[in-house]
Amino acid sequence: MAKIGILGLGIYLPSKKLTNHDLEKMVETSDEWIRSRTGIQERRIASLNEKTSDLAAQAAKNALKDAKISADKIDLIVVATISPDSNFPSMACKVQKAIGARHATAFDVSAACSGFLFALTTAKQYIQTGLARRALVIAAERISGLIDWKDRNTCVLFGDGAGACVLGPVKSGGIVADFMQAFGDQGELMQVISPEARSPFHPQKDAPDRLPYVLMQGQELFKVAVNSMADAVEKVLKKAKLKKSDIDCIVPHQANDRIISAVAHKLDIPKKKIFVNIDKYGNMSAASIAVALYEAKKSKKIKKGDKVVLVTFGAGLVSAANVVKF
Ligand code: ACO
Repeated sequence: MAKIGILGLGIYLPSKKLTNHDLEKMVETSDEWIRSRTGIQERRIASLNEKTSDLAAQAAKNALKDAKISADKIDLIVVATISPDSNFPSMACKVQKAIGARHATAFDVSAACSGFLFALTTAKQYIQTGLARRALVIAAERISGLIDWKDRNTCVLFGDGAGACVLGPVKSGGIVADFMQAFGDQGELMQVISPEARSPFHPQKDAPDRLPYVLMQGQELFKVAVNSMADAVEKVLKKAKLKKSDIDCIVPHQANDRIISAVAHKLDIPKKKIFVNIDKYGNMSAASIAVALYEAKKSKKIKKGDKVVLVTFGAGLVSAANVVKF
């Protein structure tokens, strides 16, 4: 079977930073609480005229530049997001227009924080089966628009950003194993609540006083996150016929530094093998792992020839992992 790998990586982060000290002025919280409970120091927030599709298109352009491939050589665009500009058109179609990828087909996937890895595996399958030759896989979130900025339980955790990669045939290495799993019965642990449904038979009397917002059962989610990520690593390594000691670097979803430490402990893998950048960006949902992968590569934490595990979990609940040889 053809080997499919990452040909280039790119990110885009809004310039505006929201620090823990800024949040102290908005809700009853403290820098100390946020740092000690999550490891987060600051996060990026998109401006009002910066849409998810703008973040996605910028990350895509940067990934194409890194891969030295022009947009018209791309025949598939998959965008992972849970915070699109609107229900339709898809973010992938908007990116296609923005970058001029006139030969590409395009669609979105929704798998929350696992979205980038679900999109990666989907695009890889398209290329492996001959339906596409080169794909752009993008994860972009403007999650600030889904947050209740008066709810200290959630508003301190999230940030906006985007990451992208170009996928295509490689001579050696590439994505050597994939794992995806869903636990729909635990979906209520993390969800977006839309206060009022609309129907022509039940006209809305007043505008809802609350926009859709994120609701989360943090402690339960914490346990599921640790167990499902550790399990996904074990399963994907088995598929790749590799041992834990063969792995040079793990790039996990960045939801909470304590979750990452607990996964390292459960797997008996030294924390220094795990890439962490949650301090700078918070949880960017699908975009977290794409941005972390980019930064791990650029900072030489991932070098040529390294075997890397990408692992994530997210609302759904869903978890995923991939083994990539660089
Ligand atoms: N500042 C100060 N106090 C706070 C804050 C805050 N921002 N938020 C909550 N508290 C309070 C609580 O009200 C509670 O007070 P009480 O004891 O008087 O009731 C106290 O702090 C302790 O709250 P806990 O929920 O016990 O805190 P915990 O140590 O569990 O940390 C956290 C909370 C950080 C949310 C943790 O549970 C967590 O990270 N869970 C996983 C969350 C996650 O990963 N979400 C995303 C997953 S899916 C995806 O990525 C899309």
